[in-house]
Amino acid sequence: MSKIHIGVIGCGVISDLTVWGYRENERARIVAVCDSDKSKAEAKAGEWKADKVYTDYRQLLADKSIDAVEIITPHHLHCTMAVEAARAGKHISVQKPMACTVAECNQMIAAARSANIILRVNDPFVFYPPIVRAREMIEAGEIGAVSMVRVRTTVGSMECGWYVDPSAWVWRFDKERSGGGNMLDDMHHKFAVALYLGGDVEKVAAFIENREYFVDAPATVMWKYKADQRYGVMECVHASDMYIKTKYYNCEERFEITGSRGILWVTRCTGQLMDIPPLIMCRDGETRGYNDIPAEWEEGFKGSNRHFIDCLLDGSTPHLTGEEAIKVMQFALSTYASDDSQAAINPETIS
Ligand SMILES: NC(=O)c1ccc[n+]([C@@H]2O[C@H](COP(=O)([O-])OP(=O)(O)OC[C@H]3O[C@@H](n4cnc5c(N)ncnc54)[C@H](O)[C@@H]3O)[C@@H](O)[C@H]2O)c1
Repeated sequence: MSKIHIGVIGCGVISDLTVWGYRENERARIVAVCDSDKSKAEAKAGEWKADKVYTDYRQLLADKSIDAVEIITPHHLHCTMAVEAARAGKHISVQKPMACTVAECNQMIAAARSANIILRVNDPFVFYPPIVRAREMIEAGEIGAVSMVRVRTTVGSMECGWYVDPSAWVWRFDKERSGGGNMLDDMHHKFAVALYLGGDVEKVAAFIENREYFVDAPATVMWKYKADQRYGVMECVHASDMYIKTKYYNCEERFEITGSRGILWVTRCTGQLMDIPPLIMCRDGETRGYNDIPAEWEEGFKGSNRHFIDCLLDGSTPHLTGEEAIKVMQFALSTYASDDSQAAINPETIS
């Protein structure tokens, strides 16, 4: 097989960015599009030059011309759709979070195993080039032994770079359909990056305000990595009257990794608050900015889907596997368990 034929299920807000890495990829082609809203499916099929339009995902799954599916629907549908896709023999890329509960994730992994298909969870942040470069530099020992990973997120006012249809908020406010609040939604990306940069986590403690309204902010999360003498902290703030310069969501992120020899900063992802290099290293008394790295937020999306196609065609293991994505889910869900119990939680106990 030299080209993967993709069926996309879900044509909402994030679908355009998600499919970019298929549309500009000579090893992939989007052949079919499905949304329960026919007008959305037809519009996207036209834009993405797909031959077929479905409103019932089961019909798309029965389509023999499709090798793999990209699932971009509300969280409560991820498990059912992925399990059925596996039974139909399709490889699966499913948007983060993998599902609403760890039990659902286990069902998805079991279905993928018994069908012998590839299942991966699509979290584009871990493919964002400044973050990828930061990890390469950590692995090369550039800042010595890492002892702290700091993650900051500021959610700004509703005014943002693109239009978010109100329907994309309705299911998020309903815990039955979203599985939780922002810790399981946008913050999933940040937990995935924290694991990507620092390894597995031993315990998590969190204080979270405004959980009843999805916002989950202001919040502070701290954790101890399994690696010796390594910790992490995360802040999530809702600056409701602050305009954040961005082409995308009203969100601004920064990462700071401190090692025994120096400090690395990733200075942007979704937003562009500071006009400084996307990656900076401070070491040996010198501060060096890296401007040679593609830093548009969409680069993570492109990289993530190019990676999925390469894994399918070359037989390599994708990031995030189902097992890796469960660790991200457990990390995110343990913040709620800690806030409830006011105790530190071992994420592996979240089932
Ligand atoms: N990677 C990122 O940065 C990022 C950003 C935003 C959203 N997401 C994830 O993408 C997914 C979708 O989020 P969104 O913001 O695009 O949501 P959305 O509400 O805008 O889109 C969901 C789409 O699914 C369709 N849909 C609902 N039920 C369906 C069904 N039974 N069959 C077919 N289609 C159905 C809806 O009509 C809608 O068009 C979620 O998992 C979300 O967490 C990821």
